[in-house]
Amino acid sequence: MTQALLQPLQFHNLTVKNRIFRSNISGRFDNYDGSGNQARINWEEKFARGGVGAIITSFVPVTIRGRIIPNYATIDNDERIPFWREVGKKVHEYDCKLIMQLSHSGRQQDISGIENLDKKALSSTNQTESFHGLLCQSMTKSEIKDTIAAFVAGARRAREAGLDGVELHSANGYLFTQFLSSGINDRQDEYGGCLENRARFLLEVIQAIRQEVGNDFHLQAKISAVEYNNAVIPWEKPGNTLEESIQVCQWVEAAGADAIHVSTGSIFPHPLNPVGDFPLEDARRWYDLMLSSGIYTFRNYLLFRYRLLHPIFSFLWNRLKPKQRQHPITEEPIKEADLDPSFREFVSTQDMQELLHKYQGISLSHAAEIKKNVSIPVICTGGFQQASYINRAIQEGLCDAVSIARPLVANNDLVKQFEEGNDVPAKPCTYCNKCLLNTLENPLGCYDERRYGGDREAMVQDVLSVFQPAPFH
Ligand SMILES: Cc1cc2nc3c(=O)[nH]c(=O)nc-3n(C[C@H](O)[C@H](O)[C@H](O)COP(=O)(O)O)c2cc1C
Ligand code: SF4
Repeated sequence: MTQALLQPLQFHNLTVKNRIFRSNISGRFDNYDGSGNQARINWEEKFARGGVGAIITSFVPVTIRGRIIPNYATIDNDERIPFWREVGKKVHEYDCKLIMQLSHSGRQQDISGIENLDKKALSSTNQTESFHGLLCQSMTKSEIKDTIAAFVAGARRAREAGLDGVELHSANGYLFTQFLSSGINDRQDEYGGCLENRARFLLEVIQAIRQEVGNDFHLQAKISAVEYNNAVIPWEKPGNTLEESIQVCQWVEAAGADAIHVSTGSIFPHPLNPVGDFPLEDARRWYDLMLSSGIYTFRNYLLFRYRLLHPIFSFLWNRLKPKQRQHPITEEPIKEADLDPSFREFVSTQDMQELLHKYQGISLSHAAEIKKNVSIPVICTGGFQQASYINRAIQEGLCDAVSIARPLVANNDLVKQFEEGNDVPAKPCTYCNKCLLNTLENPLGCYDERRYGGDREAMVQDVLSVFQPAPFH
């Protein structure tokens, strides 16, 4: 019998060949001005070649002021259309779909570009972001209108580029979350206050996109099921609950969305997304650029720089994890023979089993609750990399598909490995999050040397392979 994860998934107007979506994953591959280049095409091709049914792109800013970081390709003007058409054409060669994540950072910017220096970020609030202290200002009605228009134009351009759909990045603390969140949105007008008002901005964007592109262009929303806005800073307000998010998802469906992509958290990174270690040694090296973005530079510098303070940071970062894991299903035990001997020298089978148990399907119980309350397909993100587990999640109706980020960075051909009958990859992702911390200053790739048998050169070669073929050849 064909595994559930290999069966096609039908949305309103889009069929995806299997249930594995490459989750959004950003790296600084593109040009400073927001135009794209060959490295991005090479990057996306790796996953299409590896067998995923669809790629949901990284954060694609709909305005230059709404980018998190320079060197992300944007969709803020019509000149960007030809580049995205090339990306789409390349992944389509592998019968893989491409869904563009239309995004706006709001106040959650990692590194300001020249356009954002000395300029407060647009947000739902004047309140400074709690982790880095990024300054912001509450958007006026006319700025809200302009931003809705920017999302609509982004969707139109994605369609003109021949892509297969768009996703609104309404999760993980970015602009839509800043409106949706009871912990962040402190507006007094019709865009703040009760849940209906807080959801207004997102729903207006969905309705306006539908008016522009019609009903036959795939549109989905990534939603943080639970915000845990006080995860790291305990005196912050907690933010939206699962019940509130279920209501938002129902409205999102009624407004015209074709699918929900379930995530968690109201900052990024967040202790539960992407879940795993917070490699403080890598933070010491690569986080300095980001530290200087906000007004809490000195506090965070101390926390990351001085080893004596690491236990405080680790305590704050990890205190939520045991609460979140609700085990809707349990993993099959993995076998010694499943793992490559060179990998087992560094990570034992038992350690890998524990990692899977702790982190795989971290948001699955929330996705299952959302799925019970909407009739459009639900995609769940968070830690998936075991075929038997994903199959069970789909068969038991907890979600319709899974999206995978880091385990696909570690094994671009994960779906091919599943097709060959492997339950887990021979060298799984260890959720070490070194890719996450490196990505601010280094090319995105897998940075866990243990997966390369401790061979740093092999790791570097693998990371740099994204630049082959080079642009001018
Ligand atoms: C380096 C890195 C970059 C990411 N960039 C994005 C992004 O641009 N947009 C987004 O919605 N999520 C982003 N994520 C979150 C992932 O899409 C995914 O939801 C999360 O990592 C959990 O899935 P995983 O356990 O399969 O990695 C990123 C994660 C990582 C590690
Ligand atoms: S660096 Fe590699 S092993 Fe570590 S989380 Fe990222 S992809 Fe997984």
